[in-house]
Amino acid sequence: MKLAGVILSAGLGKRMNSSIPKVLHKIYDTPMLQCVLHRIHELKPQKVIVVVGRHFKEIKDAVKDADSISFVHQREAKGTGDALLKAKQALQGFQGTVLVINGDTPLIRRETLKKFLSLHQQKGNAISVLSFIAPDPGSYGRVIRDDSDRAASIIEDRDATIIQKGIREVNSGIYAIESEVLPLLKGIKLNESKGEYYLTDVISIAYDKGVRVDAFCIGSEDELMGVNTQGEIEKVRRIMREMIAQEWLKKGVNFIDIDSVFISLNVTIGRDTQIYPNVYLEGSTKIGKGCTIYPNVRVLDSTIGDGAVIRDFTLIEGSVVKERASVGPFARIRPGSQIGEEARIGNFVEVKKSVIGSGTKAGHLSYLGDAKIGNNVNIGAGTITCNYDGHKKYITVIEDDVFVGSDSQLIAPVKVGRGAFIGAGSTITKDVSSMALAISRVKQRNIKGWVTKRKSKTKSEKNKEQRAKSEEQRAKN
Ligand code: UD1
Ligand code: CA
Repeated sequence: MKLAGVILSAGLGKRMNSSIPKVLHKIYDTPMLQCVLHRIHELKPQKVIVVVGRHFKEIKDAVKDADSISFVHQREAKGTGDALLKAKQALQGFQGTVLVINGDTPLIRRETLKKFLSLHQQKGNAISVLSFIAPDPGSYGRVIRDDSDRAASIIEDRDATIIQKGIREVNSGIYAIESEVLPLLKGIKLNESKGEYYLTDVISIAYDKGVRVDAFCIGSEDELMGVNTQGEIEKVRRIMREMIAQEWLKKGVNFIDIDSVFISLNVTIGRDTQIYPNVYLEGSTKIGKGCTIYPNVRVLDSTIGDGAVIRDFTLIEGSVVKERASVGPFARIRPGSQIGEEARIGNFVEVKKSVIGSGTKAGHLSYLGDAKIGNNVNIGAGTITCNYDGHKKYITVIEDDVFVGSDSQLIAPVKVGRGAFIGAGSTITKDVSSMALAISRVKQRNIKGWVTKRKSKTKSEKNKEQRAKSEEQRAKN
């Protein structure tokens, strides 16, 4: 089946009472539109078109892989029917099924879309509507069926009679339309009461012409609800959180307190990984198998290898932590970093845009920025790579098996050769050759009896003062 996806996202979203375009409101870290795009991409369509309105640029900038999407501009929000007409140009030459989805339906699942498309095909429909039963049909369009139970039209709530309002089968805003019947859109007339062209009117237009249309009532409101208000977006957040967590539970992830964990839509987690409370896994994060993520950890756009351990209060962004490495507690891994296999990054260590080799340890209180650190290196407590001179950033290279003593500063650009040893408290300004000892601190002197002497000195000074005071007193008397 040849498939094109069209997402309608050009509405004004007035009911949100917000200056942010409705489809960019986030379900945690993912804009609603991105959630819909994610589902469309899973179906591997030939083409993806997003109809956008006044916020054309903002929306284009906010979505991922914008280059693979055709954005179509609907200058005036003249209704969903007009929005789809605007996409017609971009569909020129396309022959197949056009899957149209309202951009405010972020909870739609892949399985439901697949089922809907296969029913559409199986029944040989020219137009199909995905409908569901809404216990409280509210503002949804009602599906009107004929005597043989075939969907014949959709009536919007505001245009419905009292009897029609009682119908609980409603339109989800998801349609499959064969490309050859797209010209029917031109027959949609302006709805005078709303001043809009309703896409839903295409159903009765097609039905009256004897074109095969129907509605498939599959899926639930929890999945198909449209978001028009801030209250609904909050509801969607809760449903989405629960839905994603349940999915990972099924796939063998172990949670200590699932209700306090947030996992975003694109994250993947390997089986037997254990996740403690208050953990946030965001963006395109990938967590391997058998990892342990302790409480209060946030991982964003990062890859964590199998068996790695991320300890309490750690933030990891845009980085790779390899197999069986251990990071934290209280560590910060900034973008562009790579922590090698079995490496250990301990408390209060900040790593920025650095490669840390396998088996390397930086256990305590360090800043490692723009550094290339080899395997089995020991970075002592308080080590700092001084990468910035106020104008430019420079690189520190530390080769395999180096020992960096505590409280050392490495003034970049600088290179420490394989196996070298840096004495604690050194300030390294020059390259260190392989296997050398570099030490740059003032030589220690021990002065025997110095403290005793100082003590007796202060004692005699005190006595002198006392004598002077009593003499003064005598003189006064
Ligand atoms: C629409 C349907 C309704 C359905 C409901 C499901 C119509 C006329 N009604 O109502 O039957 O039950 O969705 O959630 O289609 N949009 C544009 N351009 C416009 C207007 C809207 O692109 O000029 C986009 C919006 O950004 C939105 C989508 O189309 O993503 C739906 O528009 P909205 O105004 O939310 O329609 P509803 O009133 O919810
Ligand atoms: Ca809506």
